[in-house]
Amino acid sequence: MPLVDMPSLLAGHRAVGAFNFIQLEVAEAIVAGAERAGTGAILQLSQNAVAFHGGMAPAATAALRLADASSAPILVHLDHATDEALVDEALALGVPSVMFDAAHLPDAENVVRTAAVAARAHRAGAWVEAELGEVGGKGAHVPGVRTDVDDAVAFVAATGVDALAVAVGSEHAMLSRDAALDVELIGRLASAVPVPLVLHGSSGVSDAGIDGAVRAGMRKINIGTHLNVVFTAVVRAQLEAHPDVVDPRKYVAPAREAVALEIERLLGVVVGGRL
Ligand code: G3H
Ligand code: ZN
Repeated sequence: MPLVDMPSLLAGHRAVGAFNFIQLEVAEAIVAGAERAGTGAILQLSQNAVAFHGGMAPAATAALRLADASSAPILVHLDHATDEALVDEALALGVPSVMFDAAHLPDAENVVRTAAVAARAHRAGAWVEAELGEVGGKGAHVPGVRTDVDDAVAFVAATGVDALAVAVGSEHAMLSRDAALDVELIGRLASAVPVPLVLHGSSGVSDAGIDGAVRAGMRKINIGTHLNVVFTAVVRAQLEAHPDVVDPRKYVAPAREAVALEIERLLGVVVGGRL
């Protein structure tokens, strides 16, 4: 299927699942899960994953090719880019959506740099996600931090971004799915902010929590760590059960299949409200 853009992907779903991949087999699993669920999905490559590979082009190009070859609408997104050069490289490669993350900068500088990146991305026909500054020196996505509604509205107006990551109680890299989201705040943000809202750190959110967040107005649900948990558990079990195995396909294939099944299941929650 030809590459989709974010407006049409969002228009076709009540919310969209956005899944981080590091290695190719997980990207394949995300696409397979979306095809089995019969829905669209977002394939996300983070700046950290790019650093792991030592460059963006091989992984981003593979993701774009997988999206192009899929029967499901798959969109490739650069996630948590703090480096503007990486954003520009993604745009040059044809990545249609980028997150520029300047939340670590002072607020005024965040606004100026995010607005400049948004303008460049828009000239390239791309979609831009961003987030407000950290609070008290902590990352924005920690339990005690909340996005202020008025600040969010002002940030979107000042920067021209197309989507906003908001802090509503989730936290990155959680291994348990018990984060308590502020659903009332999600509702107020969704009513006031004129662009789609993004939930980061959704690995720490239960199925019911994801469904509640979507019902309250979240439009993009970012999940990464949970896929690593699923993948690694299968690899570990395979290696323990077959200590003499040396061909990585023997233990990677069942791990890839487990991730595909979990993507299909999660998309049922995100897209269809299936619990
Ligand atoms: O940007 C990516 C996400 O926020 C994923 O967070 O790994 O905690 O699910 P997670
Ligand atoms: Zn994130």
